[in-house]
Amino acid sequence: MGFSTTAIHAGNEPDPTTGAVTVPIYQTSTYAQEALGRHKGFEYARTQNPTRAALEQNLAALEGARYGFAFASGMAAIDATLRLVKAGEHVIVSDNTYGGTYRLFTKILANYNVEFTFVDTSDVSNVEAAVRENTRMVFLETPTNPVMIVTDLQAVSDAAHRVGARVVCDNTFMSPYLQRPMEFGVDIVVHSTTKYLNGHSDGVGGIVVLNDEADAEWIKFIQNSAGAILSPFDSWLVLRGTKTLAVRMERHDASGRAVAAFLEEHPKVKKIYYPGSLSHRQHDLARRQQKGFGGMVSFELGSLEAARAVLDNVRLCTLAESLGGVETLISHPLTMTHASVLPETRDRLGITEGLVRISVGLEDVEDIIADLDQALDKIQ
Ligand SMILES: Cc1ncc(COP(=O)(O)O)c(C=O)c1O
Repeated sequence: MGFSTTAIHAGNEPDPTTGAVTVPIYQTSTYAQEALGRHKGFEYARTQNPTRAALEQNLAALEGARYGFAFASGMAAIDATLRLVKAGEHVIVSDNTYGGTYRLFTKILANYNVEFTFVDTSDVSNVEAAVRENTRMVFLETPTNPVMIVTDLQAVSDAAHRVGARVVCDNTFMSPYLQRPMEFGVDIVVHSTTKYLNGHSDGVGGIVVLNDEADAEWIKFIQNSAGAILSPFDSWLVLRGTKTLAVRMERHDASGRAVAAFLEEHPKVKKIYYPGSLSHRQHDLARRQQKGFGGMVSFELGSLEAARAVLDNVRLCTLAESLGGVETLISHPLTMTHASVLPETRDRLGITEGLVRISVGLEDVEDIIADLDQALDKIQ
């Protein structure tokens, strides 16, 4: 089956009771049992919910995985995944992850004696050099948020598997339409469904998909025990979102290319971070492992004043955190999404006062470009 067919049909069986073609929102906390010990496979809604189960099946199919588990947010999904690692074990992490991931690892999980080493995973030799006897996981984001560093998924997966470590990839920026990490050896894929999978900026959620049965059992156990589940309504929203994922991603990708080309030529823009650009040092790798480049573009304006001029003067683009929705969002990573990253790390990565990130939405691209053009004109 093709991607769109899977997106529209996987998990989306007509409702057995009524024939409703859309999976209903099973807004219930519990299920009537026919007799003691006899029920229909549903006992309590933290443990099982048919709407959530449909979504989990749908997203697992889109990533080419056997199992899926939906959580209340992307961070809850990442937190559950990290519980595959035990105290005394070590995790290697891409050094330019989403700021919330960095915060969870360094400020919370590190307190439980899990060790983290942050390296530039775009060079596999950095991953190899960071390996310790107790390394059990490599956690990747590619392209990274917000400076779009690309990691070679196959090379890092091979290196990690040689030392018996699992590889996790946060695929939020690409969505399974543009990148399927498991095809390159990745073991576990996580998403903030808040972004492209839902796609309409109206729900927060997360998903973990994987193939290993024992790991899947553990994630399921954690999902039920810790209880950070996705609600039936939010599950339904994401299930609706993925039906149009392919067409939305095509448009995000086409408009992303147009916006990046405009910014790259603009005299006030010092540098763009966009793997689709020929000037990106990993353009060839991105071409090999991604089906497109998506709608995320970051650009350097040289100073806080210049960034402020643009952010304060956009009219169509909305100044807001988040990404992957129908509307174009623009943000300032240093003070917004990446405020919790250490100053020296931010400096090294290029998360500067002048860096602006844009999530190119589905409006007419001429309107997005015209808005950026007039805002860039405001820079003194
Ligand atoms: C790449 C990435 N991963 C994870 C998250 C966290 O997801 P959530 O906000 O749904 O908890 C985000 C949020 O911005 C993100 O951009």
